[in-house]
Parts: sequence; C-alpha cells; structure tokens
Amino acid sequence: MNKKITVIRGDGIGPEIVTEAIKVLDKVCEKFGHSFEYTDILMGGCSIDACGVPLTDEAVATAKAADAVLLGAIGGNTSTSPWYKLEPKLRPEAGLLKIRKELGLFANLRPALLFDELKDACPLRAEIAEKGFDMMIMRELTGGLYFGDRRTEVVDGLETAVDTLIYNENEIRRIARKGFDIAMKRRKKVTSVDKANVLDSSRLWRKIVNEVAKDYPEVELEHMLVDNAAMQLVRDPAQFDVVLTENMFGDILSDEAAMVSGSLGMLASASLNDTKFGLYEPSHGSAPDIAGQDKANPLATILSAAMMLRYSFDMDKEADAVEAAVSTVLKEGYRTGDIKAEGCTVVGCRQMGDLIASRI
Ligand code: IPM
Ligand code: MG
Repeated sequence: MNKKITVIRGDGIGPEIVTEAIKVLDKVCEKFGHSFEYTDILMGGCSIDACGVPLTDEAVATAKAADAVLLGAIGGNTSTSPWYKLEPKLRPEAGLLKIRKELGLFANLRPALLFDELKDACPLRAEIAEKGFDMMIMRELTGGLYFGDRRTEVVDGLETAVDTLIYNENEIRRIARKGFDIAMKRRKKVTSVDKANVLDSSRLWRKIVNEVAKDYPEVELEHMLVDNAAMQLVRDPAQFDVVLTENMFGDILSDEAAMVSGSLGMLASASLNDTKFGLYEPSHGSAPDIAGQDKANPLATILSAAMMLRYSFDMDKEADAVEAAVSTVLKEGYRTGDIKAEGCTVVGCRQMGDLIASRI
C-alpha cells in the first residue's frame, strides 16, 4: 500500500525521536512491501522562528491532504524561551490546538499501561504494581474549556479573567460513541469521568453518555467524579479499562496515568476524527533540556507510529510487528536513560531506533 504521511518534527527532542520512528516505518515498508511518502511541515517554535506563526494555513492544507500525521513534540522552556514572551495565540502550543481543531481531531486516545518489563519503574506500592494495569484514556480534544471564549479585562477596577467551558450534545455523543466502540474491542468497561455534582456541562455529559450506553448493552458503564478518579488512579489503577472524559479532565488525568505507569517515555497517543485520518504523537513533551544529545527515548513515538499503522492504515500485522519488536528489545535489556534499571544496557536514541528496526 502507498500512504502519504505528513511529518511534524517540531522542537526540542522532536526531530530526534521522529527520525527513529521513520527508521522503523521504513523497515516496515521493506518487510511488508508498502511505500510511505513523507512530507515535512513546521509547527510550534520552529514555525514561529521561520514563519512568525506557530502553524501556517499552508501547513494545515498539507496535513489535510495526507493519510495521517506523525508528530514529535513542540514547545520550549516556558520560563526561558523567547517564544513564551509572545501573545498566547502566537505561542508554540497554539499551533497544536489549531491543528487539532482544523483537522477535527475530537477523539484523543492515550493508552496508559504498565509494561511487564518496566514494572520496577512504577512509583506505586509493590502490591498495586503487581496487579498491573492497562487503560485507555479517551479525551475529548476539540471542545470544552480549551476552545471556549476567553478574555482578560478590567471589571470594577479589578483585572478579571474569564474562560468558558462549553459542550453541545453532539460533541459529547461522538466522543462517547468512540469510547464505547473502543471498549468493545477491549475489556468492555467504560468509566465516564465528570464533575456532575457541580457543573452543568458535566450533567449534560452524563445524560448523553447514558443515552449512548443504551446502544452498547455489553459494555459496563460507571460514572465517576473527577476528584475521585484522580484518587482511584493511584489507589487502584487496575479497575480502569476505558476512561471517557472531557478535554481538561483528560489532559490532567492522562498525565497522572502516564506518571503512574512510570514510563512517560513509552506512552503513545492518537488523535482521530470521524474518518480513518489521525495525528499520532508521543504523550510526553519536547524535553528541551536533553534535546540534541541523543538521550531521548524514541519508544513512545515508535509506538505512536504503530498506532498509525493500526488505526489509520488498517495494518494490524505491521503494528503488531512494531509492538513485538519494542517488547523484544526491552526483554533483551536495552533501555534509554529515562527507564534505566540495574543490569540493563543503556543506549541512546539512535541506537534504540536501530535496535527496534533490526527486530522487525
Ligand atoms: C497535551 C498538552 C497540550 C494540551 C498543551 C501543550 C496545549 O498538554 O497534549 O496534553 O493540553 O492539550
Ligand atoms: Mg497535557
């Protein structure tokens, strides 16, 4: 099969980790007889430096014309980088929000699991880690607080800021459907997370999720308040299968779930619209402190590329092969610095990419 992939290398460690993911994709092409055509676009700080904005309309058009987008990471150090002296809509992150909105990527899938080989890295007590966990955080990505009207103004002599949390029933219904569809392919449980004891938007969320649930009688649905969910994630993460939630709660809980897994450098993500099109990126950030030193862990990006094969290209065998290669290399004891453990061989970003490619 021929596929067109738009590539966003981005900032910080982005270019290094994307290079390794492409190395692995090229090996998949060679082994399985596919051809992938890559087109680079700029987004984030590098786009600000080159074009004055974090994402140009031409770049969006290029991404739209592709079958999928592979993204490394964007942004810099928020205290020291000049990008953060610009007005908010010109900062690197505005590019990410724009591409999500322009491409209609409303469903963000963030798997958080405890890799068997990395159980020692789990920061939870041994008896909790022992049980393992494997959840999929389904975060609504183009609505809610991050896209509602916002302004800062002086009211009665006081500087006052307003952000708006807005959802309509259709926005809730389509992410809920995706959540239940994914649950059907997993352990058939959905935990819908909201703050329905306080927020109207959460009460509507709960009502629509209950309606959608009627079409999925095999899936067990529970509702959980977000503060309780944050606590349950560290108390007993094994209870979760699909965690379905709105934009900001998903942003926060997915970082918490990633940390609990002890291997942020391993976690992939996919952002999907209603078609097969998707944007694939690691769950971690651009780590500017280690950029360009061959220290970054490329596995989350490589596993994101595997998600691309599975969800956008229907290449399940190929995705399995990439995931199996990651597992093999970990079993063989190779680790990047962020997940190193006693008795393991520490390798750099490039060597990790070489090892994965060679096991496919
Ligand atoms: C994420 C990031 C972004 C978000 C930021 C960079 C805008 O934290 O992908 O989780 O909040 O969506
Ligand atoms: Mg986040």
